[in-house]
Amino acid sequence: MPSARSLAFSLLAAAAVSSAADAASDVTQLTKATFDEFIASNDLVLAEFFAPWCGHCKALAPEYEEAATTLKEKDIKLAKIDCTEETELCQSYDVEGYPTLKVFRGKDSHAPYTGARKAGAITSYMIKQSLPAVSILTADTLEEFKTADKIVLVAYIDASDKASNESYTKIAEKYRDSYLFGGVNDAAVAEAEGVTAPAIVLYKQFDEGKATFTDKFEEEAVISFAKTASTPLMGEVGPETYSGYMAAGIPLAYIFAETPEERTELGDALKPIAEKFRGKINFATIDAKAFGAHAGNLNLPTDKFPAFAIQETVKNQKFPFDSEKEITHDTILSFVEDFAAGKIEPSLKSEPIPESQEGAVTVVVGKTYEQIVLDDTKDVLIEFYAPWCGHCKALAPKYEDLASLYTNSEFKDKVVIAKVDATANDVPDEIQGFPTIKLYPAGSKGEPVTYKGSRTVEDLIKFVKENGKYQASVSEKKEEETPVAPAATESTSSEAAKESDHDEL
Ligand SMILES: *[C@@H]1O[C@H](CO)[C@@H](O)[C@H](O)[C@H]1NC(C)=O
Repeated sequence: MPSARSLAFSLLAAAAVSSAADAASDVTQLTKATFDEFIASNDLVLAEFFAPWCGHCKALAPEYEEAATTLKEKDIKLAKIDCTEETELCQSYDVEGYPTLKVFRGKDSHAPYTGARKAGAITSYMIKQSLPAVSILTADTLEEFKTADKIVLVAYIDASDKASNESYTKIAEKYRDSYLFGGVNDAAVAEAEGVTAPAIVLYKQFDEGKATFTDKFEEEAVISFAKTASTPLMGEVGPETYSGYMAAGIPLAYIFAETPEERTELGDALKPIAEKFRGKINFATIDAKAFGAHAGNLNLPTDKFPAFAIQETVKNQKFPFDSEKEITHDTILSFVEDFAAGKIEPSLKSEPIPESQEGAVTVVVGKTYEQIVLDDTKDVLIEFYAPWCGHCKALAPKYEDLASLYTNSEFKDKVVIAKVDATANDVPDEIQGFPTIKLYPAGSKGEPVTYKGSRTVEDLIKFVKENGKYQASVSEKKEEETPVAPAATESTSSEAAKESDHDEL
């Protein structure tokens, strides 16, 4: 038994250790008892809801510490809440995954943090949050503002031009998470910059350094200008930039290469093409060593680099460049020109067309999708599955039973029960999980209905009857039905990418 004295001593020592750890950290750990007071007494707080066992939280920790230290001098506070201890507090903020980051402006105003989980990104995001949506600049403050972030926007507006002022302020308030907005209402400063009000100049620390917008200040035009001008002429696809490229609304041209030298060399060689198609097609290099598997998603071989492909990001069509051909300025220019002119067919990944249909379930492949699924004379129920998906395997025998009920009925020419291996075939549908089951009713192929019920033969029959054009009603052979679990789906990625989508492209 330790003596009272040595116990007191070890408690003291422990207290000393923990306060030393606290002193070393600029992140404040909060509990239910301290949370409200902390949020109320600090104008702007970024709070991380975490669990000690969570891998992404551990990866974030040093970045979060670094950001907290940088932001301390701006009086922006970073806090963390251990949700394994503060269950109630975390529940009250609807925390569902870890880490969850929220920006608080007092107790009643919080918004999700939507930036990257890196010190630089957190710092820049929170500084933007701390400023008024538009920073009013003078000749003295303009220069510093131009480099306050990688990209900044500055509007030059006449003091009397209320309309431009108002729309610019509105745009800034809406997009403050994405860009830093400044404003100048001094005609002399505008003149010194060589612009005539009203105009917006985007200053950037890459490519040509700035771009100017002189159209009417309307949200769509301004934001489309900002997007185009802030995308590097030759960017890099990676976990931090990928979603931006996918959301850009224009195709993305990938240059896969294994070494940084090769990426620079090819990037430079193709830059004039990127320049020519600026605002119409984004161009970016991608590290083929780290993300070579992504080449497979673009229907390129995954072991032959360098490689080039264009992805139409809206329709998700893929246009791989012939991997047997050499990548040069001229070969790529003619490929991109043909693509832009609509002369290239998208590549379609497909298993071979089956010579005969073995079972009652019709097997669909990429090449037969349109012909079978979009056949306007038939109600087509299709299951999108993956070979490794356990729920799909469990469904298979019931699905086969279901199909034979129709093939043995008066509806055999009207209802098709089909399946497609969505990992081996390109399908136009966006599949969120496996299995996904949809009905494409005859006569309204543009409005497929997604099945959300339990995966029993009985409920599937009801679904086809209720949503199909032919209201096909078949009856199940009366057998003992085993009870089934609610309809769970598996992630479309075989890896459990549950904590974050950022690990893979
Ligand atoms: C917009 O109008 C406000 C209110 O009159 C003014 O304070 C601000 O300086 C103006 N902004 C610009 C960029 O001119």
